[in-house]
Amino acid sequence: MPPRDHSSIPVDKLTEEQAKAELDRLAKELAAHDRRYYQEDAPIISDADYDALRRRNNAIEARFPELIRSDSPSRKVGAAPTGRFGKIRHAVPMLSLDNAFSEEDVTEFVARVRRFLKIPEDETVAFTAEPKIDGLSLSLRYEGGKLAYGATRGDGETGEDVTANVRTLDDIPERLKGRKLPEVCEIRGEVYMLHSDFLALNKRQAEAGEPVYANPRNSAAGSLRQKDAAVTASRRLKFFAYGWGEISDVPETTQSGMIEWIGEIGFRTNPLLRLCRSIEQMLAVYRDIEGKRAKLGYDIDGVVYKLDRLDWQQRLGFVSRSPRWAIAHKFAAEKATTIVNDIDIQVGRTGALTPVAKLEPVTVGGVVVQNATLHNEDYIKGIGNDGNPIRNGVDIRIGDTVIVQRAGDVIPQVLDVVLDKRPKSAKPYRFPTVCPVCGSHAVREEGEAVRRCTGGLICPAQQVERLRHFVSRDAFDIEGFGEKQVQAFFADGLVMEPADIFTLEKRDRRATKKLADREGYGEVSVRNLFAAIEARRKIPLNRLIYALGIRHVGETNAKLIARHYGTIEALRDGLTAAGKGPESEAYQELISIGGIGEVVADAVVEFFKEKRNREALDRLLDEIEVEPMEQARSDSPVAGKTVVFTGSLEKMTRDEAKAMAERLGARVAGSVSKKTDLVVAGPGAGSKLKDAQKHGVKVLSEDEWFALVK
Ligand code: IVH
Repeated sequence: MPPRDHSSIPVDKLTEEQAKAELDRLAKELAAHDRRYYQEDAPIISDADYDALRRRNNAIEARFPELIRSDSPSRKVGAAPTGRFGKIRHAVPMLSLDNAFSEEDVTEFVARVRRFLKIPEDETVAFTAEPKIDGLSLSLRYEGGKLAYGATRGDGETGEDVTANVRTLDDIPERLKGRKLPEVCEIRGEVYMLHSDFLALNKRQAEAGEPVYANPRNSAAGSLRQKDAAVTASRRLKFFAYGWGEISDVPETTQSGMIEWIGEIGFRTNPLLRLCRSIEQMLAVYRDIEGKRAKLGYDIDGVVYKLDRLDWQQRLGFVSRSPRWAIAHKFAAEKATTIVNDIDIQVGRTGALTPVAKLEPVTVGGVVVQNATLHNEDYIKGIGNDGNPIRNGVDIRIGDTVIVQRAGDVIPQVLDVVLDKRPKSAKPYRFPTVCPVCGSHAVREEGEAVRRCTGGLICPAQQVERLRHFVSRDAFDIEGFGEKQVQAFFADGLVMEPADIFTLEKRDRRATKKLADREGYGEVSVRNLFAAIEARRKIPLNRLIYALGIRHVGETNAKLIARHYGTIEALRDGLTAAGKGPESEAYQELISIGGIGEVVADAVVEFFKEKRNREALDRLLDEIEVEPMEQARSDSPVAGKTVVFTGSLEKMTRDEAKAMAERLGARVAGSVSKKTDLVVAGPGAGSKLKDAQKHGVKVLSEDEWFALVK
């Protein structure tokens, strides 16, 4: 029978038997996580969760010291080396640091140091404060000033021989500088990778079909432990020195003095290191470094405080795996593990359906996170934007345990799924095909990851945006009716859809609270607004089509469609009938319009398929008069052709030329490409004429144009 899981029982409530079972469980779990982290460079839980497991282990041990296991995680540092490299036994063990998670923990640490050394209250105790680099530690042994070997930490006692690889790092000198160098000198520090190098490496890996690294630390670890040193060399690893191991003659008496010396003999040391003479100063440096964190260009996960006087460090010594004279003040984690309780669909201003994970609340980077974006349908399925698998193709399901990340101001994201914890009952998520806000059908265009609501005119999630577009300059162009008015009238329920704009005055006459009484309005401005609305009661067909805000239907396409159908009645009937399917005559007619491809046709058809859109349009048509458009002639010799006018035209203005060509069913473009069918060039034509020659496009003079179209 597997041991019972008591993980939810608080430490102070555990019976002795439960405590024993918990220590067994934690030892196993932590060992497994250590293996994944140190040997496989592929952790599956966040640092915060790992720390929480360790803390729980330590707290239970503190309550039940007699239960401490001989292989307790509190006595181990990291995991034994993997065996690919030669082993090196460290002359001085490479230990770890105790963690502080709050200002109280730091205060307690300083008090402990003072108590231990019996330092009187009025005596100053100085500490260095420096970033805790999130990489992997490395020990470099110099003998006679020459690099003898480099070794990873391994389990703290024995590490891996990575000498050949470390020799390729720019930051690691082959020979030390300066006079009076100690005969033996081990310099210790952190190997890390810059964010920019990490991203570039992952890009290269992805392009080569190689696995990508989860973060810069794993990437630095993986890069240092390459069999081929040339590969390490290509990874641009960096190194900050922060300490030392065996040293035959210690040249300084303080930590800060030693770091300065280490800089002088040829290493890079962290420029943010400060000497602090009070707890306040230590905490101020912590906050300062935390504030700089996002802009450093490399990962740090806290601030390390070290007692400055080396003789005092000596007296304090070590306890189990860490020195008593130093502590790591960790930043609140930016990643954490939690559960997806539900998946919600939000509808954006443009109708995009965005899935949002509703999470079991969890603290990430010091902020409680309850929602995280899931981007789109494919992201949930484990498919990236480029169509390739992400998260090894693992999908996200309700009930899943996931890793969430919060970086800076960015919306929290669900990064990964902990598959081991997936409940048996969890089913693949079915993305809705109707809009959860208005019930209209939601469609995905080919090649698009986003599914969109088609209820443009009636979907509350989109209405404000649609109204703003409806009154904009190239649409209805209603003076004095801008974004501000749209927002305000919508909020008050006065204008919910386009038709409401044209009934505003009528309703205002009957209303008790008149528009003129609103703040910022007066008799005159209201009169002007109503006049501006009246002036647009008559509108050309192409402007109306553009104003509907159908996806992919900008001014040009609106014009092409308007010219083809001529009247709003023909258009409404034709496009509604086209909804019967791509085989229908009406659909075929639509895509036969020169310049209208399938993407545009489908968007238009989807709009007219939605009954509520048609109803909203009909309500609008009750209020306005649509001017028919002269129909383009499909029998003209330039119907469906793309024409470019260039040079100075002598017999017509550019606008006339354009209108004429469009009436004849041509499309007028601004520049010449291989899609251009005809270039009409007047005197002084320049680069467009050259382009035409380059693409082999037929060029006509103005007279030849008139002859062609008669
Ligand atoms: S001092 C005796 N200083 O953090 C311990 N460590 O959890 C000496 N680290 O293994 C460590 N930046 O890999 C120290 N500025 C820094 C550090 C640092 C990162 C790492 C190091 C160590 C781990 C301890």
